[in-house]
Amino acid sequence: MTSSYSPESARLEAILLVGGQGTRLRPLTLSTPKPLLPTAGVPFLAHQLARARSFGVRRIVFATSYRASMFAEAFGDGSAYGLSLEYMTEETPLGTGGAIRNAAQALTCPSDAPVLVLNGDILSGHDIGEQVGLHVSRGAAVTLHLTEVDDPSRFGCVPTGEDGRVTAFLEKTPNPVTNRVNAGCYVFTRSVIDEIPAGQVVSVERETFPGLIEAGEPVFGYADRSYWLDVGTPAAFVQGSCDLVLGRLASPALPGPCGEFLAMPGAEVSPNAKIEGGTVVGPRAMVRSDAAVHGSVLDADCVVESGAIVVDSVVGAGARVDAGAVVRNAVIGEGAVVGPGNELLAGARLWPGVRLPAGAVRFSSDV
Ligand code: GDD
Ligand code: MG
Repeated sequence: MTSSYSPESARLEAILLVGGQGTRLRPLTLSTPKPLLPTAGVPFLAHQLARARSFGVRRIVFATSYRASMFAEAFGDGSAYGLSLEYMTEETPLGTGGAIRNAAQALTCPSDAPVLVLNGDILSGHDIGEQVGLHVSRGAAVTLHLTEVDDPSRFGCVPTGEDGRVTAFLEKTPNPVTNRVNAGCYVFTRSVIDEIPAGQVVSVERETFPGLIEAGEPVFGYADRSYWLDVGTPAAFVQGSCDLVLGRLASPALPGPCGEFLAMPGAEVSPNAKIEGGTVVGPRAMVRSDAAVHGSVLDADCVVESGAIVVDSVVGAGARVDAGAVVRNAVIGEGAVVGPGNELLAGARLWPGVRLPAGAVRFSSDV
């Protein structure tokens, strides 16, 4: 699948969908939108921006809604990232299709140009240039990146014909017909975006794509098996951060070398602590002696005290895990305190500022 199309020379523009509330990631997303959560040491989107840039994208329109102003505060005009950034905000969320239509007002490309559209919570190693090249060479209306997952019922299920043409789009169906799903990265021909009704709630997954397929428009899939992850749940978010630190997905935005852990400026890790699995230790965070931390995200200014165990978890900014506590598959909100001897397991979420007294929560069968 080669193509002479060069996104660089075509000055490809992109729309980034970042208006969702990130409810599955609460309490982390109560104060910070999902795409801005610190991931492998930088805001999640920094990885997506750097990757898009590496494929020649130079101008990106953010489609914002939830906590919209925080995006401009984080990324400004984009010059620090070698990009030109614009922000288009929906007063009330317009859904994925309405957001794309709204953001398209800030595009500068002509109606026959390809436009890249990205969900704002995806880590993907696929070749964006190849996807765009395929779109252009086939004269497609839309070309969707497709990936394979074990449980397609949680995604948009996308069956295709032999030629790669999409035959149906079944969003979150209980009866998926294939494991191939929408990977959340599209190439639209701009004129197709301009036909989405303006100023109203539209879902690309439930309305636009099924409508285009029904009308016989050329909608194609670009399927591959490169690294892919939707970071929309706490477990996936932690995994994504660890994979970046471990180097399972190369990111030009990683603020240090790949390895078992990444310590940000001012972080203090005791030489007697065991820390591995792609853990990130946020700015000024502390991991004291004999603590064990595996595959976790420790945010700024948090503390893991002596002998505490933290596995596959997020410890929010300024939170503390006290001596002898065990935190596994859990989310500790900002400024919360897990008192000594507590055990927080299997999806537990401690809300910001909550202080668990010593030994308040235990799961062991022998107590
Ligand atoms: N601006 C704006 N306005 N953005 C929105 C809105 C909105 O009203 N609603 C959702 N978004 C953004 C979210 O911020 C996110 O970046 C993206 O659109 C997708 O929303 P999610 O809430 O993450 O959807 P999902 O993960 O359940 O499903 C989507 O992604 C899957 C792949 O990860 C769908 O596109 C599925 O078909 C797909 O398989
Ligand atoms: Mg998602």
